[in-house]
Amino acid sequence: MTADIGDDARSDCGDVSGDEQLLPSGTPAGETSWDGDAYQARVDEWAASGSYLHAEADLVCSLDPATVLDAGCGTGRVAAELSARGVDVIGVDRDVSMIDTARQRVPDVSFLVADLADLDLGRTFDVVLLAGNVPLFTPAGTQEALLAGCGRHVSPGGYVVAGFQLGHGYELSEWDASCQTVGLVLVDRWATWESEVFVDTSDYVVSVHRRMS
Ligand SMILES: C[S@@+](CC[C@H](N)C(=O)[O-])C[C@H]1O[C@@H](n2cnc3c(N)ncnc32)[C@H](O)[C@@H]1O
Repeated sequence: MTADIGDDARSDCGDVSGDEQLLPSGTPAGETSWDGDAYQARVDEWAASGSYLHAEADLVCSLDPATVLDAGCGTGRVAAELSARGVDVIGVDRDVSMIDTARQRVPDVSFLVADLADLDLGRTFDVVLLAGNVPLFTPAGTQEALLAGCGRHVSPGGYVVAGFQLGHGYELSEWDASCQTVGLVLVDRWATWESEVFVDTSDYVVSVHRRMS
């Protein structure tokens, strides 16, 4: 079974209700700082309990990328796995504590503290990955800027792959509209990182958008 931050069965390491338990009480998720070591401790607990943590990496690798931007990388959970599989990966997160933990855990991967909405690395990637509800943990109202920042780092023919929970105040239609604005075309959509069929009642979505040229 895939790792889950909540009590109920979800499909990645970013269950919103579970993540909010790691945030200072009363603070909106998008406007706070994280405790990277506490986040990683929870990831380690799932791994120790036998949960499979690499469904996101499996899906990304099915696209056969040479380069990946792990956007909202947290403590480098996915970046570490992609690097171990030979992918040239850079992790970016706006949270200093998350990046501190990532750098300690995965010293051979480059991690940057930056807001994706403002990011301009002057290069592009085969895949830009947003794993673990990143659009739900960005400051409210900045999702379009977040997606624009991700979109300008996608190579021609490259992909934006994003997974997030539905029913938490940010609609899938908003994500699709922002993707369209920056020239990304929907090419696949699933209900889980393991490619289960997406239906109207799905409470999680994994979308693959592509920059066609
Ligand atoms: C639930 S964590 C997921 C971490 C990691 N991707 C994973 O799956 O384990 C969401 C992360 O998105 C980051 N994030 C949200 N909005 C961001 C933004 N605008 N720029 C950079 N990072 C952002 C948060 O700081 C947080 O570390």
